[in-house]
Amino acid sequence: MAAGIESWLEQVAQAPDEATLTQLRVRVLGRKGVLTEALKTIGSLPVAERAQAGLDSNKHRSTFEAALAARQLELQNQAEISLTPIDVTAPGMRPQLGHRHPVSMVLNELTDVFWQMGYQVVDGPEIETEWFNFEALLVDKDHPARDMQDTFYLKGGNLPRTHTSAVQIRYMMEHKDNLPIRIVAPGKVYRNEDEDARHSWSFYQIEGLVVDQGITVGDLKGTLEAMMRGVLGDNTQIRLRSNYFPYTEPSVEMDATCVVCKGTGKVFQHDCHLCTGTGWLELGGAGMVHPRVLQNVGINADKYSGFAFGFGPERIAAIKYNVPDVREFWRPNFKFLEQF
Ligand code: PHE
Repeated sequence: MAAGIESWLEQVAQAPDEATLTQLRVRVLGRKGVLTEALKTIGSLPVAERAQAGLDSNKHRSTFEAALAARQLELQNQAEISLTPIDVTAPGMRPQLGHRHPVSMVLNELTDVFWQMGYQVVDGPEIETEWFNFEALLVDKDHPARDMQDTFYLKGGNLPRTHTSAVQIRYMMEHKDNLPIRIVAPGKVYRNEDEDARHSWSFYQIEGLVVDQGITVGDLKGTLEAMMRGVLGDNTQIRLRSNYFPYTEPSVEMDATCVVCKGTGKVFQHDCHLCTGTGWLELGGAGMVHPRVLQNVGINADKYSGFAFGFGPERIAAIKYNVPDVREFWRPNFKFLEQF
């Protein structure tokens, strides 16, 4: 028997129906079954071999019984499947449909506005060298502006980019002989910051860059206004406040009129909760590209000038959809996301 067990197991696995299984059970475990017969011969074995032979027989018995049970279950399941009638008139099950993420919607609206103004939409790598992320933008190693953006450093000195401004440099180097430049570059950035309702260690930015002859602050202001009206509505006003970035001169911070109080600062005689009563929302940084940045990438700064800006679409989405905590956007919380 011991040598034959495999062939019996094989027959069980291939039994076409339960009747065959019953036959196999009888032939192996029945009163005259092969296993039963084998057990009877144990007594006639030399004493030294008896114990092992007994153990083997028991093991074969349980293996065989398990195989029978498994095949029986399989046959029953098959029978059940073939017996279940198919109602071809039953209505289909509606698959759960996804939709665009609110931050993607804002990014698409923004890129649409720029696309219509003749901009190219480009991207760059998320892992950058220090040179592209900082040095080429006039942020040297010991420049205090490095602290403005706390950086994760990777082994070997590269870094996940802290802003999309690195894409400006890459694009200008590639297209310096093919001016003018008009691009927007949406993408993810990373900062070693504590999280709170308005900050996250990873978020999106959308960078803009224009380089041409005779570009002025007026062009920058008109462009930013068109962009904000495109996403926040035609009545949106903007204002530019003086600010500092090493790679732009002059540098500005852009505010747009608050979407809740429409710039009045008041909601039913109370200070507006969104802009805390100022009537303005801080939305991003911008400025005229510093002539030395142009020189760094090989563009003649006497002939050409440009502007650049960088905005956070999560912040714009939070304002537009009245979301009090930007971390909510990246939690796997369908109840939240399904609202948009
Ligand atoms: N890179 C700046 C930031 O991340 C934004 C900016 C972009 C400012 C382009 C000026 C010009 O805050």
